[in-house]
Amino acid sequence: MNIRCARPEDLMNMQHCNLLCLPENYQMKYYFYHGLTWPQVSYVAEDDKGNIVGYVLAKMEEPEPGEESTHGHITSLAVKRSYRRLGLAQKLMNQASKAMVECFNAQYVSLHVRKSNRAALNLYTNSLGFKILEIEPKYYADGEDAYSMRRDLSELAERPTAATDMADLQSEMLERWIGNNDKGGNVHGGHGGHGGHCC
Ligand SMILES: CC(C)(COP(=O)(O)OP(=O)(O)OC[C@H]1O[C@@H](n2cnc3c(N)ncnc32)[C@H](O)[C@@H]1OP(=O)(O)O)[C@@H](O)C(=O)NCCC(=O)NCCS
Repeated sequence: MNIRCARPEDLMNMQHCNLLCLPENYQMKYYFYHGLTWPQVSYVAEDDKGNIVGYVLAKMEEPEPGEESTHGHITSLAVKRSYRRLGLAQKLMNQASKAMVECFNAQYVSLHVRKSNRAALNLYTNSLGFKILEIEPKYYADGEDAYSMRRDLSELAERPTAATDMADLQSEMLERWIGNNDKGGNVHGGHGGHGGHCC
């Protein structure tokens, strides 16, 4: 099992995994939007044959009023059923969070989760140190409430990567995405109406 940064050619398989695992689905152009804008912060888990078995789709947000720096947001997280309880989601989330700190100096990462999603709530609260910020009533399209959660990333910020290395990394990643995006396929396809991010 391997965890690595998502590439343009992974997007269709990430969407497939999302459709298998969650009711909140997105058009392919939304995956491209994430990958082209923040190529550093989305990750995939692959099996020994290179099949995508899990993903985290993440982005950066503008600072809230009164905040100094940007923060990260988890748009979607899923692991295929037969690969669960192996620690993959925890690793995907930690890699994405580390990249948010190293590439964007993020202070925290936020997400939404259904009140009824016990597995995800355990993962976020017990394994990853997220705290509940508030309840957002009827956040999801079917009327279910969401917990809005945050994880403080300051403990990951102790070893900053040199700015020059980071500039090189950012341009290399952007080049990879732009250079490959004509292979990405159906940018108009997919499924509309997510009605609230899954996490
Ligand atoms: C939630 C989900 C991503 C967890 O993925 P995973 O790879 O199985 O999670 P991990 O193996 O990293 O689990 C880490 C910890 O989270 C908690 N956890 C994970 N699944 C759990 C479950 N079914 N029940 C209770 N706790 C669970 C446990 O504390 C676990 O540690 P442990 O195995 O040592 O007890 C996965 O169940 C999934 O894809 N669910 C459907 C999609 C989804 O709900 N996504 C999140 C939307 S916000």
